[in-house]
Amino acid sequence: MNLTLKVWRQKDAQSQGRFVTYQAANVLTDMSFLEMLDVVNEELMAQGQDPIAFDSDCREGICGTCSMVINGKAHGGLAGTTVCQLHMRHFHDGQTILIEPWRARPFPVLKDLITDRAAFDRIIQAGGFVSVNTGGAPDGNALPIPKTAAEKAMDAAACIGCGACVAACKNASAMLFVSAKVSHLAALPQGRAERERRVLNMVKAMDDAGFGNCTVTGSCEAVCPKEISLDFIAQMNREYGKAILKNSLAPQPKGGA
Ligand code: SF4
Ligand code: FES
Repeated sequence: MNLTLKVWRQKDAQSQGRFVTYQAANVLTDMSFLEMLDVVNEELMAQGQDPIAFDSDCREGICGTCSMVINGKAHGGLAGTTVCQLHMRHFHDGQTILIEPWRARPFPVLKDLITDRAAFDRIIQAGGFVSVNTGGAPDGNALPIPKTAAEKAMDAAACIGCGACVAACKNASAMLFVSAKVSHLAALPQGRAERERRVLNMVKAMDDAGFGNCTVTGSCEAVCPKEISLDFIAQMNREYGKAILKNSLAPQPKGGA
C-alpha cells in the first residue's frame, strides 16, 4: 500500500519544528510501524537527506523507548500495543498518517520524534528501588508472598516507563507511571520498609519535574500499552496520605533551626 506521512521534523531542542510530508510507497501490511519508518529512512539517506530520528530498542514491546503520537494517539491507539508492535495492516492504502513526538513540557523534544524522558529517571532515582543488599538469589519459598499480592505487584511492574500516559494527559500528569512504581514495591514485603519515604520522595521528584496533577480523565489508562489500571493511582494516593500522616505524627527533632 502507498501512504502519505506527515512527520514532525525538528533539528534540535532549540530549533522550531514543522511537519514535513513524505510518500511511503509499497508498504507491506506485515511490516511494523518502525520497519515502515526504517524503509522511509533508507530512501531519505539514499537521497542524501537527514533520516527521521526516532527511538527504539527492543522492538518487542518491553523497553518503552518507541514513543510517538500517531494520528493524535500515543502509540497509535491500538489497545495494549506499543508502536514497535503496531503493524501496518491496521492502516489502509492511500491513508495520510500524522506522526509527532510526545507533547509534554517535562519531555522536551531533542530531535524529530525523540524526546528527553530523563524526568522519569529522576523520579525512579528518588525512590523506585529497594535499598537493601539482597545478596544472592534466595530460595523461591523462603519469603512467602500471598498470590494476590504477587499478582498485583506483577500487574504494576508491567509498566515500561514509555511516557504515553503523560503524552495523553491534558495536564501532562505522570501519576499513572509513578503509581505503578509505588504500588509495585508497596505490594511486596521487600519494599514495605521504605514505603513512606519512597512515595514522598517520588511524588516530590514528580512535582519538581513539572508534571501536572491528575484530574482523573482516564486518558492515561486508555493509551497505556501495558494497560496499567487507574486503581494504582488510588492506591498511591492512599500511600501518600498515610505517609504524610505518619510523618506529621512522628516526634519532631528538638532544637532551633
Ligand atoms: S503507566 Fe503505561 S503509559 Fe505510563 S509509562 Fe507505564 S507503561 Fe507507559
Ligand atoms: S522498541 Fe522497546 S517497547 Fe518499542
